[in-house]
Amino acid sequence: MHRSLLLPALALLGHFAAFSAATVRGQKSVDSERANRLRIHVPAEARLTDLGGEPPARAQAGSGPVLALRQEPAQTGPDYRKNASKTKDQENQVDRVPDVVYWPTPENVVDKMLEIAEVKKGDVVYDLGCGDARILVKAAKKYGAKGFGFDIDPQRIKESLENVTKNKVENLVTIKRSDIFKLDLKDASVVTLYLLPELNVKLMPQLAKLKPGARIVSHDFAMQGAKPNKVVTLRATNQKGHEREHRVYLWFVPWEKEEG
Ligand SMILES: C[S@@+](CC[C@H](N)C(=O)[O-])C[C@H]1O[C@@H](n2cnc3c(N)ncnc32)[C@H](O)[C@@H]1O
Repeated sequence: MHRSLLLPALALLGHFAAFSAATVRGQKSVDSERANRLRIHVPAEARLTDLGGEPPARAQAGSGPVLALRQEPAQTGPDYRKNASKTKDQENQVDRVPDVVYWPTPENVVDKMLEIAEVKKGDVVYDLGCGDARILVKAAKKYGAKGFGFDIDPQRIKESLENVTKNKVENLVTIKRSDIFKLDLKDASVVTLYLLPELNVKLMPQLAKLKPGARIVSHDFAMQGAKPNKVVTLRATNQKGHEREHRVYLWFVPWEKEEG
């Protein structure tokens, strides 16, 4: 590569993490997205010089030889590696697979959960893995309770927000994309769960920090090591039309230890 071409090409390489397309001498370069790859089209008559080093990018002159270029941070601008900012979701570590799939609680089970937790105006209900936020929407509409819904799945966040808007409870219900295992639960007076037995157990260190008198209600799953204050069974039909017996567990904080 001729020196006059090489220097702009290298300067560009220093910046390509920030751009999905750039122009070298009026021609488009592509492919700079995820894997830090950049294809630079240089004129066919250009002389190419191999710089050695790791080849994170390759430049091609016409159909001729392929050249490995060394990737270097821009000398004059700020270090692009420091500036390659993570997205908010990456920072909050929510860009990962949910620990349990979405499966909504049937409406009559939602009613039972709120009833046995004695939810009332003034309560702050946290639904950990809120799905479409049906529990919080019901708590707000029926009892005037404040609600905070957390889910890791962006699709569930979208559905929750739609549900909140449709039911006009935006003043009471807040939805946030979060990993439930990173939450501080101290402001909740009621926590609702429909997760898995082992996830309930994993949450215990966080749940133990709830204020005395706070209530925890779990659909279907116990929390091994914590003796429930109440267990209620009821029949319900799920969204696929299948009817079965459901359980609702209630604990008051601090809970009594259960052996075995
Ligand atoms: C079985 S659904 C329950 C939905 C809702 N609570 C209900 O009862 O209708 C479990 C939800 O937990 C969410 N989830 C799974 N792992 C999570 C995590 N680590 N942090 C936040 N949400 C999570 C899933 O995306 C799913 O929406």
